[in-house]
Amino acid sequence: MNPWNHTPIIGQAPMDGVTDAAFRYITDLYGKPDVLFTEFVNVEGLGRNAVKLLNAFIKHTTATPIIGQLYGTDLHHFYNAALIVAELGFSGMDINMGCPASNIARRGAGAGLIRTPDRAKEIIHIVKKASLDFADGATIDSTDATKAVKKWVHDHKPENVSRSILPISVKTRIGYDEIITTEWMQHLLEASPTAITIHGRTLKQMYTGIANWDEIGKSSEIAKGSGVKILGNGDVSSLEDANEKIQTYNLDGVLIGRASFGNPWIFKGIEVSIAARLQAALEHCRAFQSLTLHAHFAGLRKHMVWYCKFFRNSASVRDQLMHIETVQDVENILIPIISSLEQNRRSAFI
Ligand SMILES: Cc1cc2nc3c(=O)[nH]c(=O)nc-3n(C[C@H](O)[C@H](O)[C@H](O)COP(=O)(O)O)c2cc1C
Repeated sequence: MNPWNHTPIIGQAPMDGVTDAAFRYITDLYGKPDVLFTEFVNVEGLGRNAVKLLNAFIKHTTATPIIGQLYGTDLHHFYNAALIVAELGFSGMDINMGCPASNIARRGAGAGLIRTPDRAKEIIHIVKKASLDFADGATIDSTDATKAVKKWVHDHKPENVSRSILPISVKTRIGYDEIITTEWMQHLLEASPTAITIHGRTLKQMYTGIANWDEIGKSSEIAKGSGVKILGNGDVSSLEDANEKIQTYNLDGVLIGRASFGNPWIFKGIEVSIAARLQAALEHCRAFQSLTLHAHFAGLRKHMVWYCKFFRNSASVRDQLMHIETVQDVENILIPIISSLEQNRRSAFI
């Protein structure tokens, strides 16, 4: 399903170290956003046979569109990686042109591409070519990808993947050192991606200050008539806030990032009880075990703590959750609390 076909789109923003298969499963289950993204995957790393990067592309079975995100600078590796995303059955491919991390941007990838617009456009074109070639029958086997990468794709690709042309999107920022929204948008529009998500900060700002939504609105104005969908991103705090920003800045949608930590219900605009939050935490850790077998349990600790953010006086519980090693550890901590909260609720009702 093409995730960009219906608007407005309220989606889950891609976040490295956060939006893995288990997180996406829980977000999908409790929030049903319009679109989900993987963590970003380095195309040059795949070219160097770093098969473990492909774990970011493990996904749960769902009708919700999931987009595979890629980053890097090398056109050949982008081509191969895009074929992988297509063969794995994703609903689209997103190119990261917004990551501010110095080890990535200094090498010209992520937000570094804002400084090399010609390369940015070449990347969009090569990924589009991969998408067209995939629809015409190309597979990762017809490339020089390593044997191990090809095997991983074979082992993980769903049966009967539809050979349609996948939409290509870009996620970026409003500038590198300074705001250059107009110029940068004009470059990106020349390459006609299906959608562009603009995070209203420059690279220099990293995640500090307040996202500049006037600049995001300017992007939408510039893209008018181009057919390219424009989504805003940065500091969206609720579903109501998302809808308000879509209206005010004339957008096709928004992506929500940090406000969804431990709070998949944000996409439905509902509040749930503490017991329901802790129950979801338990399910999250079970999904982590079944979907994310490769990952170290330590990666789950922050999620468990995020589910406690509305839970008053939970310092000691949060402290215990920071030391979990197994699902059993989480069950031992959370099940008695959930039972006692349920018991209190019943007593209060009677
Ligand atoms: C921990 C973390 C990891 C991130 N990783 C990615 C990533 O892999 N790809 C990407 O495009 N953006 C990434 N971002 C940026 C977010 O997608 C989003 O643009 C940013 O958090 C602003 O949105 P928010 O204010 O709703 O969180 C990351 C952000 C955070 C906080």
